[in-house]
Parts: sequence; structure tokens; C-alpha cells
Amino acid sequence: MARFLFVACTLLLVSAVARAGIVKYTFNVSEMKIRRLCQERTIVTVNGLFPGPTINAREGDAVVIRVVNQSPYNMSIHWHGIFQLLSGWADGPSYVTQCPIRPGNSYTYRFKIVGQEGTLWWHAHVSFLRATVHGALIILPRAGTKAYPFPKPYREVPILLGEWWNANVVDVEDEALTTGRSANISDAFTINGSPGDLYPCSSDHTFKLAVLPGKTYLLRIINSALNSQLFFKIAGHSLTVVAIDAAYTTPYRTEVVVLAPGQTIDALLAADAPPACYYMAANAYDSLQIVPFDNTTTTGILYYASAGLPSSPPVMPLMPAFNDTPTAHRFYSNLTGLLYKGTPPVPLQVDERMFITIGMNLVPCDHGGAGCLGPFGEKFAASMNNVSFQLPSKMSLLQAHFSGVPGIYTLDFPDRPPAAFDYSNRELQKNLELLQTAKATRVKRLKYNSTMEIAFQNTALLGAESHPVHLHGFNFFVLAQGFGNYDPAEAEKLFNLVHPQVRNTIAVPVAGWAVIRFVANNPGVWVMHCHLDTHLPYGLATVFLVENGPTAASTLPPPPKDLPRC
Ligand code: C2O
Repeated sequence: MARFLFVACTLLLVSAVARAGIVKYTFNVSEMKIRRLCQERTIVTVNGLFPGPTINAREGDAVVIRVVNQSPYNMSIHWHGIFQLLSGWADGPSYVTQCPIRPGNSYTYRFKIVGQEGTLWWHAHVSFLRATVHGALIILPRAGTKAYPFPKPYREVPILLGEWWNANVVDVEDEALTTGRSANISDAFTINGSPGDLYPCSSDHTFKLAVLPGKTYLLRIINSALNSQLFFKIAGHSLTVVAIDAAYTTPYRTEVVVLAPGQTIDALLAADAPPACYYMAANAYDSLQIVPFDNTTTTGILYYASAGLPSSPPVMPLMPAFNDTPTAHRFYSNLTGLLYKGTPPVPLQVDERMFITIGMNLVPCDHGGAGCLGPFGEKFAASMNNVSFQLPSKMSLLQAHFSGVPGIYTLDFPDRPPAAFDYSNRELQKNLELLQTAKATRVKRLKYNSTMEIAFQNTALLGAESHPVHLHGFNFFVLAQGFGNYDPAEAEKLFNLVHPQVRNTIAVPVAGWAVIRFVANNPGVWVMHCHLDTHLPYGLATVFLVENGPTAASTLPPPPKDLPRC
């Protein structure tokens, strides 16, 4: 009997291995010319596509992507939401897990996709280049094992929401960082690279989706915008959300969805409206309200193949107001995780708790005389627990950790803010003393397999705003979220420990808080940062250094030979 079992198990193993495949891509990163908004621009893209190529893989696959940098800029690519279990060298954030790929050089990213299905994406993780260097990363269930936990859709459609600048995005960022003021706002939003016909010269740059009546479509919606949370809606149709951040949800029917940069939504769309033409539209959810933002609207057209393309304008959805925090919060907080076979349960024992403030700050002007253009003549900065994260420049944090090189980082990122204050009080937003922060490369060490609970608290400093916090290397459970100051006893009463939503990016409510849990089961160095790209160089980040486990199977292997050098 034992022998029979052994043979059966081996057979199972062999067939599982046989079903997992190898997915290979070559990404040539280079400049190309493109017309948008009546102008010819030069942008950096992958394989001459905007958005870039979609990576199609199955759970269990090994992915091999050779990135050849033929652009004039430093490059590195992050596979947003991929766990990178024991493959931290392939995670991609510049100066965290690798030095950037210099112009003319290449690097091959190798990782396995284990235990995740749904919609993720990839993007440049260096300067503002992510604006045009990004694409979808779609993970289908393993062949021959199990299908989706919802009826099979007739077709699947990636919807990448993007953000467009007429100016060179690297210049936009450099200008903001040298002057110390905030970056110029974008000129348009896009759907699959097209702004849509509400913008000048853009009727030929409008995404169009033909549907057949009675069929159901799976929209794989990705917020690949740089700095804007986005509402998305389709006139005449509702959506049923079935997954977020490549984690299944309890089906959730809604007229409108909202996504922060970094987040994804898989939603079913039933083509059950009278056959006509309908706009799909996205515009900003602007929680900040005190500085200019891109208030334009991108559109695409959904039409019933039988009705053909319209001669009169399609029906426009009624979009929420830009500051409609109640609608955003209803959507963000009502989602729950799907309980089904294979879902890890919420860990009920917590090993370590952290309380992390997130928000804007100031640092002194570094050029004398004229002063800087930020508030009070200083420079914009941002921090977690008042540490404004400074990336190293000589080698990546992961290399320093792996080779034991001293002097690159310190292990003293604090578990709580240095001083308690009325964090969410908007009247403190101009308090010069509270606004000051300092740059440092302070990281937090985590024991292998420890269960972490983190309460995030948005501050109101320089303006209350919803910051989307993204954690590399892990998904986390979202136990609760709310407005005002985090109160552990009150928050705990709201904890969903049964079927919380699972995410890799959480939009912490404006002037509010959120509590997450995750298990530090992945040795390596993992950055956690605000996914508004403009806040990353300001220092709105910290890094977790997860120790190796006790066995070879829980130890980070050495770096690949072609790991880029600084
Ligand atoms: Cu999608 Cu560190 O980012």
C-alpha cells in the first residue's frame, strides 16, 4: 500500500511538473516616436509597443524575460505583484534588488509563478519611465487543474489605464526634484494607450471594444497611471468584480470601480444592454483637493457588433465627482476575499506589530541663495515614521545584505513614529516643526515566517491624501480601514478575520488608516512604498529585510551571473 501511494504521488508530481511550462520573452527597451494629443513625441517603450506586450502565463510556469536596454536611460523592470519566492534578484526595483540596467546592457529576469492567478502587470521601476514602460501580466489557472471560480467568460480584455505627459517624463521628474516643487500634472489619461475622443486630435486614438449581445467578457483592468487614482465606469452596464490584485474576491456587483496606481481589478461585463454605443470612461479620484490635478477624462467605446460604430456620440456614464471619497471608500472597503480551496487562512497569531505613519514632509533646500520652490522655500519630501527613505547608489540593498557589505543601510527603521501627534488633523498641515524630516536608509529586519501586522496612518501634513501603499514580495490581508486616527481597540472590532480582501497595494483612506497582515515567508529585501510615482523619490518608502529560514529551501540563492552592476 505504501509503495502504491509512493508511485501514485510520484505520478502526480510528474504530471504537475509536466503541465507547468516555461514562458520566454525578450523585451527590447528603446525610444520610439508616437503621435498623441496633436503632437509627435518620443517615448521609451518595450518592443515598440505602447502599452508594452502582455505577458501570458499560467500558475506554476517558469518565466524568463531577457530585458535589453537600448534606451538612453537606466532601466529596471518590476513584475508587480509577483511573489518572487526565493527569486528576489528578479524583483526589479532599482537599488533595492538590483542596480539598474545601463544603456546597452541586458539582464534576464527568471522567476516562477506559484500560488497566484489573475491580473498583474509589469513596469519600469526607475524614475518616471513607468509612464510608458509597462504592460499586463496575466496568470491563467494551471492547465488541466482547475478553472476560474466563476463562469468562463466568452473573451478576456486587458484595460490598461495610463497617464500621459506631452513633456518627456524624465524631465518632468528631474525638474520637480531639483526645484523641490511638485511635479507637473499630466495632460491626459489613456485606455490601452489611447486618450479617447474627448481630447484634441484623438478620435483615431480611441480604444474600441466590440461585444456580442448575451456574451460575458472578463475585463482585466490595471491602473498603470503614475500619480492618479482613477474611477472607471461603463455607461449602461454594471460590472461584477471577481478578483483584485490577482486574488479572487467574493463577486461584487457595482456601477463604478476605483483603482489606485498599482492595483488591478478583474471584472465580468455582461453585454446585456440595448445594442448601441456606450462610452467607458476613467477620471481622477483626487482625495487631496488643494493643489491642481489632471481633471480630464479618458474614454473608450463599447459597441455591439450588430449595431456598428456610432454616427452620433455614444452614451456617457455619469462619473462620480473628483472628490467623491464616500464612493471610493464604499468600493475599497466592501470587497471581501473569496473563500475557496487553496485560499490561505488569515493568521490569527501575530508575532510583531508596527504602526507606520505615511505622509508628506519637507527637507531643507540644498541649493543656497534663491531657495527652493516647495512650501516655505524648502523641498518636498515624504516619509514613513518620519524616515524619508534614501535609496543607495553604490550597490543594491539586496546585494549589500547578501554579501554582508556594511555601510549601505542601517537596521533601525522604527516600529512607530518618533512622536505621537494628531495625525489626521488638517489644521496641523502647515506645522513647520512636524513637517521636517531627514533622509536615511533605515530598514526593518523580519524573522523568517513571522506574522506581521501593520497599521498605516495617513498624516494630514501638507494636505491629507490617500496614499496607495504597495508591498513587494507578498500579498497581505486587509483587516480593516477607516478615517481619522487609528485606535487599536476600535480598529480591532472592525477586523475581518473570516474573508478579508487580499491585495498587494492598499489605498489607505484619506486622513485615515488601514490594518494589514502578512507572513514574512520570503527571504530577501522587499520595498514597501507609495505607488504614486512622484512620492517614491520623495522617500515615501521603507524596506523589509526578511531573514533566511532554517533550510536550503528557505534560503535565498546567490545572485545570477548577469545581475547588473552599479
Ligand atoms: Cu508597482 Cu515598487 O512597484
